[in-house]
Amino acid sequence: MAEHIGIVGAGYVGLTSAACFARLGHRVTCVDTDESKVDELRRGVVSIAEPGLAELVAQGLGDGTLTFTTAQAELHGAGLVFLCLPTPPGEGGRPDLGVLERVVPQLGRLLRPGCVVVTKSTVPVGTAARLPGLLGRGDLPVAANPEFLREGHAVEDFLHPDRVVVGTDPPGSAAAVRVARLYEPAGAPVVTTDSASAELAKYASNAFLAVKLSYVNVLAELCELFGADVREVARTMGLDARIGPEFLAPGPGWGGSCLPKDTSALLHAAEAAGVDFGILRDAVRVNARQRARVVRAVRQAVTGSAASSLAGARIGLLGLAFKAGTGDLRDSPALAVAEDLARAGAELTAHDPAVARVPGTSAVQVVDDPYLVAKDAAALVVLTEWPEFRDLDWARLAASAARPIVVDTRNLLDPVALAAAGVTHIGVGTRRSLTPFE
Ligand code: UDX
Repeated sequence: MAEHIGIVGAGYVGLTSAACFARLGHRVTCVDTDESKVDELRRGVVSIAEPGLAELVAQGLGDGTLTFTTAQAELHGAGLVFLCLPTPPGEGGRPDLGVLERVVPQLGRLLRPGCVVVTKSTVPVGTAARLPGLLGRGDLPVAANPEFLREGHAVEDFLHPDRVVVGTDPPGSAAAVRVARLYEPAGAPVVTTDSASAELAKYASNAFLAVKLSYVNVLAELCELFGADVREVARTMGLDARIGPEFLAPGPGWGGSCLPKDTSALLHAAEAAGVDFGILRDAVRVNARQRARVVRAVRQAVTGSAASSLAGARIGLLGLAFKAGTGDLRDSPALAVAEDLARAGAELTAHDPAVARVPGTSAVQVVDDPYLVAKDAAALVVLTEWPEFRDLDWARLAASAARPIVVDTRNLLDPVALAAAGVTHIGVGTRRSLTPFE
């Protein structure tokens, strides 16, 4: 049954949800206070680089199922309203609910009786339970339906999710059934539960991924010291169905807009509840150490000592985004490494297929040609796993570098092909790896 859905907030989560719900045959009204953004969206201009999103927006605008507006009043007729508002980290990592607390009472004054109000962007446990009070209405059912979208796969993840979770109090209420029905075409397992469990499930999933990644990053360090290969260890572990093969690739550390924010929020919530979530705290600590490990490896490769200054050394960076497939620099480990290298005195030139500049710093010169990063470089550092880096002409890069050495923090490149091109390859968790032997 087609519904009239209201989406509050046309950011990453809101816009994806709006376009995808329209694609599923619903009538969607997406509200945002940013007039220029709404203007652009009405013309089909989508500033988020997400495969398939612009096409879905164009389709929805074209067939009239999707409208953008700054007028909240247009939500009056909606049967369900999804809150896709930002909850940035505030003091001590606790999510800042200022926007939500301002907007929800306004909604309370205009929504029609029976409209289901749903939290979609990540909110602290207990937020859905607070909604009736914030709305100032007892006649509006509320639900928690957190999203699990990955950047670069948002549309695919929305239309084909691994699971859908719908939390209401009591679980499985008429409102929960109505929310769950929206996702029926996806055919994914639906967990109907209470609102606190649904909200915690989102944090728990992201924090678990962070722990898994920090675990594998420490394993990589051990592999280097034991003469083992982390790729073989991870492959063996991943074949155990209880562990699974995903999220077992070591790297320069985990980052992005969600994992760091959600781990801090969960840590903060645990601390406030008097629970020592030590394993999660350690995952965060290990993540900072992983970045430092990369910097030590570069110092070692360039100077022969893991502690020496890099003053005057030209270093070429391949990749700046927090992962391949996105130009997102938020909490990017690549930028953290770049900052530390600059602090150690290095002169940095970087190329990333999706990044034209790094706002707020002059320490990194961004170039649009990957071959320019190698010019007179004392070392190259691969920081983001863009597949196209594999196919570069490595002999050409070697020829223009001062010293043909690559520190490959993603184990992206083929060491055999690089050796043939005359390049020394230093991977992570392999036999020629980051750990400096002095
Ligand atoms: C994540 C969650 O996956 C998603 O469900 C949630 O809704 C938002 O947060 P995203 O931030 O897009 O999605 O990034 P993701 O693909 O999960 O990668 C997170 C970080 O882990 C990146 O820095 C990535 O490079 C790193 N990573 C991932 C590894 O270092 N190794 C891996 O094997 C996988």
